[in-house]
Amino acid sequence: MSDFAGKAYFIGGAAKGLGRAIAIDLARRGASIGIADLDEAALADVAQEITSAGGNCVSTPADLAGRSAVLDAVGALAAQCGGVDGVINNASCLIYEPIEDVTEETLDKMLGAGLKSAVWGSQALIQYRRPDAPASIINFSSPVVYKGYPRTSIYSMVKSAVASLTRTLAAELGPQNIRVNSIAPGSVPTPGALTYVDAQEYERRAATIALRRLGREDDITEAIAFLLSDAASFVNGATLAVDGGIIASA
Ligand SMILES: NC(=O)c1ccc[n+]([C@@H]2O[C@H](COP(=O)([O-])OP(=O)(O)OC[C@H]3O[C@@H](n4cnc5c(N)ncnc54)[C@H](O)[C@@H]3O)[C@@H](O)[C@H]2O)c1
Repeated sequence: MSDFAGKAYFIGGAAKGLGRAIAIDLARRGASIGIADLDEAALADVAQEITSAGGNCVSTPADLAGRSAVLDAVGALAAQCGGVDGVINNASCLIYEPIEDVTEETLDKMLGAGLKSAVWGSQALIQYRRPDAPASIINFSSPVVYKGYPRTSIYSMVKSAVASLTRTLAAELGPQNIRVNSIAPGSVPTPGALTYVDAQEYERRAATIALRRLGREDDITEAIAFLLSDAASFVNGATLAVDGGIIASA
């Protein structure tokens, strides 16, 4: 298991699902953790779980669509740890609906949660990184970037923009020793995903995925630990598919 003692990582959208699993896993590996989310109660539970296991967690309830909210949340972790080593832009608002039903409110909400938060998270990493150490940004893409799935237009658009942001920032920030990568998870039944995909549909999907199973939270936490580790020190601008072969067979 990678040892992240002395490191500090910020995870956006960490109250539930993959963000929660990543925060708990990185704390278990010895890192100090900063977490933020809209869901104040669930966020407090994650912070409690980390600290009661002996970990260090700086928790900030926040809407990560806002620039100052993100800078403040990452800054709070940096103030306690002398800087941050990585920012994981995991927050997302998942709404599936036909294009003709999309309201201005929905569009703003999804852009704010999934795209603006990644821009502000990147700025926060640049501002609060340790000056002489390598640093990492990890964004969240999706298999929807590679194939058209009906009713997912805004979500797909956000994830495609995130994939593009990842490549651009990898080129722009590489000379500053900041690596920028993304993960594209596939079919992990989290609370957000279960809002739109029921158990029966997940069963059907599992039968079509090349590895014939759904994704698990630990598939994603292992991939994140790899991307943050020295073992990935030459991995920059990649989107790592952690999806059992969904993208490969799309
Ligand atoms: N679960 C999957 O199979 C899957 C597949 C592809 C991509 N992804 C991506 O992985 C990431 C995690 O997915 P998940 O399934 O755990 O998602 P989720 O919906 O279960 O959790 C997302 C978290 O983000 C928080 N959030 C939403 N808007 C926010 C905002 N404006 N400010 C702060 N927090 C906000 C939510 O409260 C929630 O805790 C997302 O980026 C998602 O798009 C997941």
